[in-house]
Amino acid sequence: MFKYIINGGKPLSGEVNISGAKNAAVAIVAATILCDEPCILENVPDISDTAICSKILKEMGAEVKYTNKNTMYVDPRNIRNPVVPDELARTMRASSYFLGILLGRFHEAFVAMPGGCDLGDRPIDQHIKAFNALGAKDEIVNGTVHVKADDLIGNQIYFDFITVGGTINAMFASVKSKGLTIIENAAKEPHIVDVANFLNSMGADIRGAGTDVIKVRGVDYLKGITYGIIPDQIEAGTYMVAAAATKGNVLIKNVIPKHLESITANLRKMGVTVEEFDESVRVSADGPLMKTNVKTMPHPGFPTDMQPQLSALLTIADGTSIVTDDIFDNRFRYVGELRKMGADITVKDKVAIIQGVEKLKGAPVKATDLRAGAALIIAGLSADGVTEIGDIYHIERGYECVDEKLVELGADIKRVYIQSKDSIAMGG
Ligand code: EPU
Repeated sequence: MFKYIINGGKPLSGEVNISGAKNAAVAIVAATILCDEPCILENVPDISDTAICSKILKEMGAEVKYTNKNTMYVDPRNIRNPVVPDELARTMRASSYFLGILLGRFHEAFVAMPGGCDLGDRPIDQHIKAFNALGAKDEIVNGTVHVKADDLIGNQIYFDFITVGGTINAMFASVKSKGLTIIENAAKEPHIVDVANFLNSMGADIRGAGTDVIKVRGVDYLKGITYGIIPDQIEAGTYMVAAAATKGNVLIKNVIPKHLESITANLRKMGVTVEEFDESVRVSADGPLMKTNVKTMPHPGFPTDMQPQLSALLTIADGTSIVTDDIFDNRFRYVGELRKMGADITVKDKVAIIQGVEKLKGAPVKATDLRAGAALIIAGLSADGVTEIGDIYHIERGYECVDEKLVELGADIKRVYIQSKDSIAMGG
């Protein structure tokens, strides 16, 4: 099993390049199925979630080639059946996108109930509500969702609450339907806009992405294009927090500063310096870190996907901070691990009360999910002594070459293969 071993206490300095956005990429790679010609995708992050997506495409019959580690060619024309292989579908949450995509192309889809980060119960009732509005029927047979429509007819879709996946799936199912679909109470995350831009570049007619009303007028044909995926807002935010936690000075390149505003605002409240440039931000911290209170919200609010990382920073800030995150049931599972490192955190329901301590201490810990793992890396980088992080496969679902990027910034982090309790070998 691979682990990260971090010898903490080294300030990060230098420059880091941010990869393409995971949550845009998993949707866009899958959505090449909707295209009537081959596509080329650039800036695809080299992470296990996108690797699973491309494996699904290949197993379904698409031709998939990587021209370099971040550029994919996909020819989806040979896909004949609307069935996603069960064992692959169950490994990631984004497999639910194949429901909308296959419904859009074949008017039918079979997809096993999605897996992904264990953040509590993650139903897809709103996705199904959208498909039903367009005329599809649904059933669940042995844990596999089956949706089918004789015809997809544009309609009004009103989400009961804001859902990122539901909004993207509603766009996928309606992009080739007949007539006009109006998606109300839509999510506004940067990757919703990126998915709409990708579909529009192929010839779709989607307006309003990035606002809470999206209008989709169905088209018959989507042409092949070359498309570059946006930079990852959350990866960028993670390096911003890591720079602050180590009292470092880092230029974070290939970002869209507008997407980082809620993260920047919270770091500034804590006394961190954030300078914004056209496509980069510089984060530096040399004075004391101050407490702050944070509540996660859908975009443009502070993202739940940054909550564990910011909380890790707050464990070493002066004073008591209150962090509220009620987007998922289970987003505080990392707290027990941070406590092993000396953090003083109490969780009551969806609220964490963090009493800052002077320093964390290295300890053996485990990543409980992707962003929890990122929080542990930040904690380990700032801590005194050695932190050993297990279950890093969670982290590698979403962060491209995190160990290599951190080494470039001066961190002492190694990815090692632990063969048995007493033998450690270097890993690739
Ligand atoms: N929900 C329902 N029913 C639905 C859909 C969602 O009850 O039909 C609930 C969810 O259980 C959750 C809330 O609504 O409590 C919001 O879920 P949403 O649909 O917005 O999230 P998602 O599409 O499942 C995406 C990201 C997550 C990110 C959330 C919120 C992808 C592949 N995943 O998940 O990313 O936390 O939006 O921004 O885009 C991550 O990258 O670490 C990650 C977990």
